[in-house]
Amino acid sequence: MRTVRVNTNTPYDILIERGLIAKTGELVKSVSNSSKVCVITDSNVGAIYGNTVVNSLKNEGFDTVMFTFEAGEKNKRLDTISAMYSYMADFNMSRRDLVVALGGGVTGDMAGFAAATYMRGINFVQIPTSLLAQVDSSVGGKTGVDIEQGKNLVGAFHQPILVIIDPDTLSTLPELYLSDGMGEVIKYGCIKDEKLFETLENENAFDIIDEITEICVSIKRDVVERDEKESGERMLLNFGHTLGHSLEKIYNFEGLSHGQAVAIGMVMIAKAGERAELTEKGSAERIKKLCEKYRLPTSDNASAKDIADICRSDKKASGGSVNLVLLHKIGDSFTKKTELSKLEDFIG
Ligand SMILES: NC(=O)c1ccc[n+]([C@@H]2O[C@H](COP(=O)([O-])OP(=O)(O)OC[C@H]3O[C@@H](n4cnc5c(N)ncnc54)[C@H](O)[C@@H]3O)[C@@H](O)[C@H]2O)c1
Ligand SMILES: [Zn+2]
Repeated sequence: MRTVRVNTNTPYDILIERGLIAKTGELVKSVSNSSKVCVITDSNVGAIYGNTVVNSLKNEGFDTVMFTFEAGEKNKRLDTISAMYSYMADFNMSRRDLVVALGGGVTGDMAGFAAATYMRGINFVQIPTSLLAQVDSSVGGKTGVDIEQGKNLVGAFHQPILVIIDPDTLSTLPELYLSDGMGEVIKYGCIKDEKLFETLENENAFDIIDEITEICVSIKRDVVERDEKESGERMLLNFGHTLGHSLEKIYNFEGLSHGQAVAIGMVMIAKAGERAELTEKGSAERIKKLCEKYRLPTSDNASAKDIADICRSDKKASGGSVNLVLLHKIGDSFTKKTELSKLEDFIG
């Protein structure tokens, strides 16, 4: 089994192994003495893996129930959380009891937020089942929901007590979401690890996904340990995200998936870095090729002006500038404070 230890304020382990979800009960027992467990999952994941996880917990003596919500980002909102609270209270869960998040990033963010706030905070375990959740969202302790005014505007930092990653669950993940998660995997190579980037170029990532996942969560772990509450280094994880987020917004979060938007954002910002002679020549082309290999788009019809306009309205609150993440070269990133008024020229 691959184990990555995260030394945040409350340390925890990330365990990676094929078939691991069938051992959920014993793994949870090793970190928790709760008597009741509420497994929170969505309608897709619950139908495939719910029984395995619930039975494993019951076999170890946990009094276990499962709360299922309808899959989809549109349900990542406060009334779903409210339904979770009621369900947990009706089950008489106490401060000593446990939430298990079984699903993708939407499930992890919401179950984590419910755990962060129910009775002022109870423990939770992450069982991420999408590639994005396995390499990114299940690590780092960010939890939350969307509100009408924007995505992830309400939330809390709440670290899990254990993360259980079973790469076999990816066998049922729809292909779109596999390539979506690859956007984040490629991002890790770009910002921190040229060797990972080369491995992705030379091999099929899905043949060695356990190893790739371990590398990605270790990179995220290193960044999060040094910057748990996001002030400095954690910003590097936003490579490709500033422009990507604007693109997602242009299409109302429906035309492009997150990973697709990030892929386009990474190529755009690498090109901008090359033009400004801040980024080694040829980097953008390598990123483009790699994104194409994993079926991610690398350009879009939206103009630099459209993208810069959205960034401007997004970043109003943080004053007249935006922290762009740029590459010196692949595997080596830095942030550059850029005036919002100069953004269009910089990326255009
Ligand atoms: N907390 C963080 O640090 C962080 C970081 C990045 C993204 N996020 C959040 O993550 C969310 C996106 O995550 P996501 O892409 O996993 O979305 P998701 O949870 O909606 O999962 C995507 C789809 O795949 C399905 N699915 C998941 N695992 C499956 C499996 N093994 N088999 C079959 N179907 C499966 C889900 O039911 C859903 O339909 C966004 O809400 C985003 O804001 C959070
Ligand atoms: Zn992302």
